Amino acid sequence: MQYYSLAVIPGDGVGPEVMKEALNILHVIEELHGGMKFDSQTFDWNCDYYVKHGNMMPANGLEILQDFDAILFGAVGSPLVPDHISVWELILPIRRRFEQYVNMRPIKLLHGLESPLRNKGHDDLDFVVIRENTEGEYTNMGGRLYQGLPYEMALQNNVFTRFGTERIIQYAYDYAEHHRRKNVTAATKSNAMNFTMTFWDEIVKEVSGKYPDIHTNLYHVDALAAYFVTSPERFDVVVASNLFGDILSDLGGAIVGGLGIGPSGNINPEKKYPSMFEPVHGSAPDIAGKGIANPIAQIWSVAMMLDHLGFKEAYDLILDSIEKVLIDGVFRTPDLGGDASTRELGNAIANTLKKTAGIK
Ligand code: NAD
Ligand code: IPM
Ligand code: MN
Repeated sequence: MQYYSLAVIPGDGVGPEVMKEALNILHVIEELHGGMKFDSQTFDWNCDYYVKHGNMMPANGLEILQDFDAILFGAVGSPLVPDHISVWELILPIRRRFEQYVNMRPIKLLHGLESPLRNKGHDDLDFVVIRENTEGEYTNMGGRLYQGLPYEMALQNNVFTRFGTERIIQYAYDYAEHHRRKNVTAATKSNAMNFTMTFWDEIVKEVSGKYPDIHTNLYHVDALAAYFVTSPERFDVVVASNLFGDILSDLGGAIVGGLGIGPSGNINPEKKYPSMFEPVHGSAPDIAGKGIANPIAQIWSVAMMLDHLGFKEAYDLILDSIEKVLIDGVFRTPDLGGDASTRELGNAIANTLKKTAGIK
């Protein structure tokens, strides 16, 4: 029996609702496999915790998480706490402390779903956004000056280190070479951002030089966003800075069925620290508490975790079951045009999985 320790942080809003379904799927997988077991510990670190304790997690929270094999995260954010506090005290420190510098966000139109893009099908919509996840525009450095005065200002620093930029671009090329269709698109904005993004472009050129068989496109991010809509078939691996990757991955989600679908892996490729798996979406306060959130993004995130830990067959099975349920079309949450609850859609996926004989 192989044992894995799993830290579960359901978080706020729809986080706990979709997490419940995802953990149910994980249990089904454990049963089907028979030789793998997840020892999970749940942490109530969220905005309610903040209201009670004055912080989003205990002072030694990161030390506690460090010993786990993986982290499963729901979503953070509630009207009770300013978003910049909930985010900078929980999710961003985890990504940074554990050097989860790769944020892998697949953009793939699942069978059973239609894209809102006219005439675009499954062959046109199958790429991945690889987002830099520890620096760039998200630095927690800057300041507010001269508050209340006419020349008041706010500064937010961007930090692009050679180390950080090289490693994400290098990762994207390696990934394109070994796991994809040998096509890399890098998102830039060097026309306006003449220091950070010209540096980014130079590093793209340096790294691409080592991969003569990979086709490279360097697009300004504004045009690139338009191509997501007009010609998504041109993409295979899209590599982007932290903020550009954030925006592009929500847009990517929208063209393949909405925010309820897209998963993400915050990966520490060296496996020195735990990686963290979570939906691309947030806590969705507008639908929280109604039991209607789409659990697919969280379930797909569990599949990514299993793949990361070496269980590719489990990943394929989960995806296959999600697609079967979508093709069947009976259980769809409101975001997919149906009236099923989170529970019903989660159950339908679990039941479909259970029909599988056994896996490795
Ligand atoms: P959001 O992703 O929470 O919601 C955007 C829209 O997508 C909403 O209309 C919502 O109802 C819908 N949506 C999201 N998840 C859904 C699901 N599973 N099923 C059906 N519909 C879904 O983004 P937002 O409104 O900008 O942010 C809300 C809060 O979440 C904020 O506090 C924000 O900081 C936080 N947030 C957290 C994360 C994270 O934890 N990784 C990510 C994004 C936003
Ligand atoms: C995401 C979210 C986060 C991000 C927020 C909550 C800081 O939007 O995971 O995409 O921008 O990374
Ligand atoms: Mn986002």
